Amino acid sequence: MNNGNMTFIRETIERRSGIALDEDKAYLIENRLEAIVESSEYPDLDSLINQLRLNQEDGLWSRLIEALTTNETSFFRDLHPFFALERDILPKMIEAREEDRQLRILSAGCSSGQETFSIAMAIDAGFPQLTDWTVDILGVDISPEMIDRCQTGVYKQLEVQRGLPAIKLLKYFKQDGLTFSINEQLKTMTRFEQRNIVDAWPSGERFDIIFLRNVLIYFSQEGQKTVLHNIREHLAPDGYLLLGVENAAELDDSFQRETIGQATVYRLRP
Ligand SMILES: C[S@@+](CC[C@H](N)C(=O)[O-])C[C@H]1O[C@@H](n2cnc3c(N)ncnc32)[C@H](O)[C@@H]1O
Repeated sequence: MNNGNMTFIRETIERRSGIALDEDKAYLIENRLEAIVESSEYPDLDSLINQLRLNQEDGLWSRLIEALTTNETSFFRDLHPFFALERDILPKMIEAREEDRQLRILSAGCSSGQETFSIAMAIDAGFPQLTDWTVDILGVDISPEMIDRCQTGVYKQLEVQRGLPAIKLLKYFKQDGLTFSINEQLKTMTRFEQRNIVDAWPSGERFDIIFLRNVLIYFSQEGQKTVLHNIREHLAPDGYLLLGVENAAELDDSFQRETIGQATVYRLRP
């Protein structure tokens, strides 16, 4: 593929999704485009690129972006954020929301749902006092395929073997041969939507806790700043943001860094 086409594709993906594809990812882009050509009506790469250049909302860009995302995830990934959630964040939030009796949690870039269901399991197992509260746990991802998987809630043996304690596997999953389905209770505690977190978020939506783990690491600095701007608008003033290795305070000075045990969290500056 010529340089002009490659630059056009990299820049458009970054503008649309926030995802940064450095020059060394050219092989990956070309590889994914070839796969789309093979499974589509386009005879060759050039005609596919011509169609992409028309910039129509025909799902072609979404397919390409979906093919370029990294969906790596696991239950209770990295553990420490979940310890912080159970031991510090939730107890404080429950006290702060005693009157409203409502908690809103976002799992942004939720991939196949392991993070979102881990949050639901942590709440169900550790906070029986929330049973008569409104607890909204929303998982969003740019990939329709991932959202489909979240809504189905079926995992392979290898997936439940990663990070999920046996006691939780027994309590929250039903085994069917080599697959494990999330039980109805966890399904009713969670909901999933396909969303691009770079776009403006629905107005009036407010979250007490936002998990945005291992997502911004794939974004350009511009994309990271756009998402943090969206979070700033939609995180409760006393809310918590949990990232992966990124430093929100360096990217956006409305955030300050705090440490809870071995986890780093971000809060809005007063
Ligand atoms: C590596 S996974 C992280 C999953 C989970 N948060 C974790 O820490 O295990 C990154 C996810 O972010 C999603 N993603 C990438 N860009 C996105 C965007 N602009 N809007 C929403 N989700 C996005 C990808 O589809 C992918 O499922």
